[in-house]
Amino acid sequence: KKNIQIAIDGPASSGKSTVAKIIANDLAIIYLDTGAMYRSATLVSIEEQTKNSIEIIDYLKDNPISFEKTSVFIGNRDVTEVIRDNEVTSNVSEISAIPEIRKFMVSEQRRIAGSSSIIMDGRDIATVVLPNADLKIFLIADVEERAQRRYKENIKRGIESDLGYLIEEIATRDKYDSTREVSPLKPAEDSIIFDTTGKSIEEVVAFIENKAKELK
Ligand code: C5P
Repeated sequence: KKNIQIAIDGPASSGKSTVAKIIANDLAIIYLDTGAMYRSATLVSIEEQTKNSIEIIDYLKDNPISFEKTSVFIGNRDVTEVIRDNEVTSNVSEISAIPEIRKFMVSEQRRIAGSSSIIMDGRDIATVVLPNADLKIFLIADVEERAQRRYKENIKRGIESDLGYLIEEIATRDKYDSTREVSPLKPAEDSIIFDTTGKSIEEVVAFIENKAKELK
């Protein structure tokens, strides 16, 4: 059969990357975390003290974003942890709303997708990056539950956090991402919307993998 493309979109902390990683492993296909790419651009913006898209893109051309197993690199620097910091998280929506930044990322994402089977997670995968994807899933969940998941994740990673702050941060970021001019967060017309509130990771994975089986 031809290569398959699976798009997983949805708001912050809806479980996209967790389930996408598992599915990629189960189906033996490539996984691409597009959020990590926008986070990397944001880290460059903060460290280089510029919001100029040309400067950020030039930096990333000299020091390309790459993925190795579960790690993210800018050039040869491992940024896996630092791109999850609060400072990056609270600035990422602004940087990812810049049209030139999006254009650069989308072309990188399509290049990576190339001719391999892939599962990609993000905000605009079904609508913009892979409009012909075979399967388009849009994951949603109550903001309280999403904040709870992040809270638990943070504890596991040894990061202090406050539930109220997380709810606020997630809601603010969703609003920004959904209302921006270019490629706002929204399902495609042919996306399957799946509410993961109260669902386990296994249940979400099973739902998507069953849909993937139906493709054959
Ligand atoms: O998925 P994650 O929460 O890591 O994404 C971080 C941010 O990157 C999002 O809040 C959004 O602003 C941006 N993003 C985007 N388009 C994507 C993936 C992420 O604009 N495809």
